[in-house]
Amino acid sequence: MRRIDSPAPAVASHAADGTDLYEGLSRRPLSIPSKYFYDDHGSALFDAICELPEYYPTRTEQALLDRVSPQIAQRTRARHLAELGAGTARKTRYLIGALLREVETLRYSPLDISQYALEQAAASLSGDFPELTITGVRCDYTADLDALETGPGCLAVFLGSSIGNFTHLAGVVLLRRLRNQLQEGDWFLLGVDLVKPAPILEAAYNDSAGVTAAFNLNILRVVNREVGGNFDPGDFRHLAFYDRETQQIEMHLVARRDVRVHLQALDLTLEIPSGERIHTEISRKFTRDSTARLLTDAGFHLEEWFVSENGYVALALARVAAEGGTARPAEPQ
Ligand code: AVI
Repeated sequence: MRRIDSPAPAVASHAADGTDLYEGLSRRPLSIPSKYFYDDHGSALFDAICELPEYYPTRTEQALLDRVSPQIAQRTRARHLAELGAGTARKTRYLIGALLREVETLRYSPLDISQYALEQAAASLSGDFPELTITGVRCDYTADLDALETGPGCLAVFLGSSIGNFTHLAGVVLLRRLRNQLQEGDWFLLGVDLVKPAPILEAAYNDSAGVTAAFNLNILRVVNREVGGNFDPGDFRHLAFYDRETQQIEMHLVARRDVRVHLQALDLTLEIPSGERIHTEISRKFTRDSTARLLTDAGFHLEEWFVSENGYVALALARVAAEGGTARPAEPQ
């Protein structure tokens, strides 16, 4: 973990010992944890995905935040905003602007794996909102959530449908850890991508410019670098589809031919026959009910549900529930 005023390496680092890679690649079905997408190149490809015409989540959530931030600010009157995976805080600035119209002082505590993104966020926000106090921390929120700074009257935010990249259980574990950092009555805003017709979802993960395919294949280069592998991305093709039953997009890499790969640091040799898949990501899609269930299982109570005008994405405003009970009503300020 690293405060934003200290120097940091340019490349995001992952589980240093590669244990999670060994687990995913030493058993069938083969898998690679999706956090390995995000080296510098992968992060740049993800930024490019967010601009694609087919990839609606980013711009739709941004428009929704633009519209409902005043309501969220009036309801929460939060004096501390804490964000998981903040990036450059492009969307969070709507909330910050709205909160600063409601409260006198506001502290913003973003967590992100990218030092560069945190510095960008701090530079542009402090220029636009001089009254804002910013204390960012560079860390992987899946490993170091304790680094999240929270305080009285806190609103924690987790945007961009990133919760969809966790299984229900892993999501509950993450959000429970978040809940334990908050006080009873604090707030939590969660961004989710909603269940919708398969063609819209499948187009978002199979864009015509091939950026998502490049993003998916880049994971093999990251693995090569992390554990001394010799994957040739040209030996694989991108596959993404929506599974109606599990309500999730699945991403895989499919071997185009019989492939033999050696991963030096793991002392592992893989024989992958033509057609075999390596699973790289799930992206779960939610309904109001499944979001409420997730929040309840993690110790929150869903209070308000905001849906984008096209019905594609939603923001769930929840409150920390009392242990074994429901959340306390808001205290007047
Ligand atoms: C980061 N996450 C919310 C993206 C998603 O839509 O699940 C990652 C992504 N994978 C392919 N395209 C975008």
